[in-house]
Amino acid sequence: MPGEGVNKVSQAEPIRFAYWVSNLSGGQVVSDIEQSTGWSTEYNISLAQQAEKLGFEYALTATRFLGGYKAEGQHESIILTTAMLQATKKLRVIAAVLPGIWSPALLAKLAITADHLSNGRWAVNVVSGWFKDEFTAMGEPWLEHDERYRRSEEFIQVLKGLWQPDPFTFKGDFYRVNELAYKPLPIQKPHPEIFQGGNSSAARQMAARVSDWYFMNGASIDVLAAQVREVSQEAARHGRKVKFAVNAFVIARDTEAEALAVRDDIIRLADPEALDGFAKAVQQAGLATGDKLGMWAQSRKQDLVQPNDGFKTGLIGTREQITERILQLKQIGIDLVLVGVLNYDWELTQFGEQIIPLVRQAEQGDSSQQAA
Ligand SMILES: Cc1cc2nc3c(=O)[nH]c(=O)nc-3n(C[C@H](O)[C@H](O)[C@H](O)COP(=O)(O)O)c2cc1C
Repeated sequence: MPGEGVNKVSQAEPIRFAYWVSNLSGGQVVSDIEQSTGWSTEYNISLAQQAEKLGFEYALTATRFLGGYKAEGQHESIILTTAMLQATKKLRVIAAVLPGIWSPALLAKLAITADHLSNGRWAVNVVSGWFKDEFTAMGEPWLEHDERYRRSEEFIQVLKGLWQPDPFTFKGDFYRVNELAYKPLPIQKPHPEIFQGGNSSAARQMAARVSDWYFMNGASIDVLAAQVREVSQEAARHGRKVKFAVNAFVIARDTEAEALAVRDDIIRLADPEALDGFAKAVQQAGLATGDKLGMWAQSRKQDLVQPNDGFKTGLIGTREQITERILQLKQIGIDLVLVGVLNYDWELTQFGEQIIPLVRQAEQGDSSQQAA
């Protein structure tokens, strides 16, 4: 049965919400559909201020250095997170970081200052990468899929080593550190939260061993439940618990038909050339693993119009249908829903004002039923 015996502890807690920071041009879909949105630094700071008032607990940036399929312009994730943190009071902001591009000792130090600037609200999403051309353009070697994960795991080990008080030495295949002890230490204990993106077998094993959070591409309830089960069981073997987050593209309209029509328009107006470029690039990621479990290994072209398979999670319909689906996600052990929308100008507000309250109401109903 999906979700059986899974992640029971966190089920008592309210499900949390994150939104995708709009730091890439072109929005969250590879489509020429009209969007009311922006991607400037000012736009993102103002969005962060609104989002924390609306009940979003986290914001996730993307890291991209190169256009190629849409996203022709990009703001850098680490600097942007610090600006967003400075302008907010509660929001936790997650910086996406590519180990092949950043040194972990450097990032660990930047993170400590960001953590202090924000009184403990900075977090990292370690992404192992799929975009070979980006690495080539930056003059960095492109490693084979599972080697990228071996490097990411060392990266996280170094971060953790430098976020604790004792002098730290590490002699890995990718990184070396000698008797280094940072001062000050981060405010967050034991350390800033570590998220990871990536769903292949290598990603699952890495999450079980070292990550605090496992971010999933959008998928059906059954596919998500299977990942939650597998990663939880593997983590338990290491004496650990991992929390789960899933990407979802939200389209809330008065009727289900209207919401589905918006999704169909997004797909109909997909930019075929950009989509082809993306489909080709992700061959470097999910499909390349051979285990057919990686992100995008099971994606069709129309799924890729939302590059993180966000349509598949099924948060498309009326407010009530979306609420129902979010509760199902919670039941299978999802702790956090990552929301992307078409029109950032009004759809995040709509989600915060109209859907989060319905979810909270339903959660309270659930807990009073349990108490009775
Ligand atoms: C929620 C989420 C966010 C991600 N953000 C980024 C990103 O900002 N930049 C990037 O290059 N990859 C990003 N990725 C993809 C990861 O780099 C991932 O390691 C890669 O696609 C390989 O996935 P696989 O392990 O499933 O093959 C993200 C993945 C997820 C699930």
